[in-house]
Amino acid sequence: MSTKSQFGSKIGLIAATVGSAIGLGNVWRFPAETQANGGAAFLLLYIACVFILGVPVMLAEFSLGRGGRSDAVGVFQKLSPGKAWWIIGAVAILASYLILCYYMVVAGWTAEYLWQSITGNLYETGTSLEQSGDIGAADAAFAARMNNYICSDVSPLIFTYAVIAVNIIVLLGGVQKGIERLSNIMMPLLFVLLLALCCVTLSLPGAGAGLKFFLSPDFSKINAGTVINALGQTFFSLSLGMGILITYASYYPADTRLTRTSVIVSLMSLLVAVMMGCIIFPAVTTFGLDRHPLEGATLVFVTLPEVFAQLPATQLWSIVFFLLLFVAALTSTVSIAEVSIAFMQDRFKMSRVKSCMIVMLPLFVLSSLCSLSFGSLSGVKIFDMSIFDSLDAFTTNVLLPMVSMGVCVYVGWFAPKSLLKSQITNDGTIKSRITSIVLVIIRYLAPVLIAAIMISKFV
Ligand code: PFF
Repeated sequence: MSTKSQFGSKIGLIAATVGSAIGLGNVWRFPAETQANGGAAFLLLYIACVFILGVPVMLAEFSLGRGGRSDAVGVFQKLSPGKAWWIIGAVAILASYLILCYYMVVAGWTAEYLWQSITGNLYETGTSLEQSGDIGAADAAFAARMNNYICSDVSPLIFTYAVIAVNIIVLLGGVQKGIERLSNIMMPLLFVLLLALCCVTLSLPGAGAGLKFFLSPDFSKINAGTVINALGQTFFSLSLGMGILITYASYYPADTRLTRTSVIVSLMSLLVAVMMGCIIFPAVTTFGLDRHPLEGATLVFVTLPEVFAQLPATQLWSIVFFLLLFVAALTSTVSIAEVSIAFMQDRFKMSRVKSCMIVMLPLFVLSSLCSLSFGSLSGVKIFDMSIFDSLDAFTTNVLLPMVSMGVCVYVGWFAPKSLLKSQITNDGTIKSRITSIVLVIIRYLAPVLIAAIMISKFV
């Protein structure tokens, strides 16, 4: 058995785990969900879901990872040899790899928008229309730009390949010299960029009205569907069910306090989501762009460039924002790729270089298929969806809930009795008053709520 890698410092392991959690889920999913589901009412619900469900399920994944000290499949085999529980880990690896294929493409888009912000090309046509007051035409110009870019064959591929290459360089460095070092630089940078953008948007004339929408709850919008959305947002934004937290926790030193780590990671992820809200709602309200649904790609690649076009120092804020987005995407892709790399390394006793190459090189083909599914391959349909959309739907609606359910059922009922307790208390060396509450949540509440998410996706 090769000696298991470890994170080198407390800050480093938190930066890496937070880096994984903070991604497009915080930046573009959270504002969209908040806008659609009653502003602060959704925020409050989401905060409740994060602490009642997110933290305990995260602790279950951490306990598996550090208790089993192996990859996502290996932990189950070590803790319950000869049983079929490892299948949960195998599904997690499959899910994480499929997500990786299409997330690389999105990360490529963020890289292109960053590059075009630097060169200034992003604002060639839209800005003058915006400033002449022809908002409709400016809208159309920015939307057309996004569509033309995403649906073209060649340039998105170039940027996707560049992002894959950057990932390879980081991952070849290993856990400490690659992932941890990247996170130690990128996470502080991300918070500085976020703060800078917050300062700008909060000083805009419409900031008050935007914040009022974001921070005043409309409880009439809360219904069963809203709760399901908040649950889904919790799982996605905390990177649960992807094997990432199992893999990262296998690199945690024995004295890492898992409860504290899970609370810090959840709080940081929440903080970023709230800061994104403080950036987006004031900005779109000030410029009258709240007529758009603040949805995913349109929010970041159409609505926000329109906002920047109307700010003084357009290019600067555009660079700041797309750099932030790129950093968030990069620390997430690295974490999700590590799931498969750790598996190859542990399972087949491969060197870091070899396992890295076996995992990453096929992405040049697989991510190309995802990218081209907006262009030349748009006619290829799986269950009536493009390659990209079908991978997204299959992983988020089917595989991720399956893994989370499997983790809860296994850790709650079938893992060695002492696993959760010994991991939360570091083998009895620290006190914990929450072990029994966490166990009740993992055994009963979490499986019921995850089942509700799964059923809702199909009804
Ligand atoms: N928590 C991440 C996010 O909010 O974007 C989830 C994630 C997605 C992690 C894709 C890694 C990844 F490659």
